[in-house]
Amino acid sequence: MKAQKIIIDGDPGQDDAVNLLLAMASGDELDILGITAVAGNVPLALTERNTRIICELAGRKDIKVYAGCDRPLERALVTAENVHGNTGIDGMDLFEPQNPVQTQHAVDYIIETLRTEPPDTVTLVPTGPLTNIASAFLKAPDIIKNVQQIVLMGGAMREGGNRTPSAEFNIYVDPQAAQIVFDCARPLTVIGLDLTHTVLATPARIEAIRATGTRAAIATAGMLEFFNRHDTEKYGSKGGPLHDPCTVAWLLKPALFKGKLCNISIETHSELTIGHTAVDFWGVTRRTKNANWLYEVDAKGFYALLTERLARL
Ligand code: BDR
Ligand code: CA
Repeated sequence: MKAQKIIIDGDPGQDDAVNLLLAMASGDELDILGITAVAGNVPLALTERNTRIICELAGRKDIKVYAGCDRPLERALVTAENVHGNTGIDGMDLFEPQNPVQTQHAVDYIIETLRTEPPDTVTLVPTGPLTNIASAFLKAPDIIKNVQQIVLMGGAMREGGNRTPSAEFNIYVDPQAAQIVFDCARPLTVIGLDLTHTVLATPARIEAIRATGTRAAIATAGMLEFFNRHDTEKYGSKGGPLHDPCTVAWLLKPALFKGKLCNISIETHSELTIGHTAVDFWGVTRRTKNANWLYEVDAKGFYALLTERLARL
């Protein structure tokens, strides 16, 4: 089988970092064309640097990293150091990456790639605010039809928000960008908090990852332990939810997940509920079904996959 071409767009973030490692460990299935960074969990200067650190940790200096938008389309940037620490990937042993960031802007890289690769062959995997993707669509609308599919982490339905009572962080930070992406009419798979809050990094699961003994696995264990501090206290759970790696896990093993085709619309005006994802799960509107909303996962199978892949790095 030919490897699926992907561009990962994220804001590392420990969970973005683990998602990158999972993808880099899965070279038979996934061909990472490039990785783009966006401002989100921490400012852009850190997310692009963190991306380069993670590539080097995985021994993948060959993968090019592009820096993108340093703030949302219309609103001021909101970051999440309270969750991710000051660097965004606190918990692992940080080092100075040797590979430079590319000089081309991430938005131009996305546009160029979607124009050069054959239509319908590139999957976009956003795990942060959707600013880079929306900016590319605004600047070059001709590329939209070439996108094979988008698989993103963002939104919440029954679970409620994690940044406000109504909104999940990625959508809250740039709701205008989210609206553009959700309205793009290309196949869209959306993984929100309803699902990721069942994918808990319990101490036993972290130990199983660490026990594989690879450098990437040990770094992952450290990052997850850091990440857990905030979330276990907030949710009173046995482990923090591992959000972003669900995107790549779905590409690798869709059978682990259950989803339903729904309309998802983004609240972009109300100050009270801005960034809310209105998921029409029961089809009560006549709005076009624009997204495959994933609502259930085999968490045990997910951690088995993650552990097995991290052991390869
Ligand atoms: C999302 O927000 C970020 O804090 C995480 O990296 C994830 O992408 C979860 O709401
Ligand atoms: Ca993220």
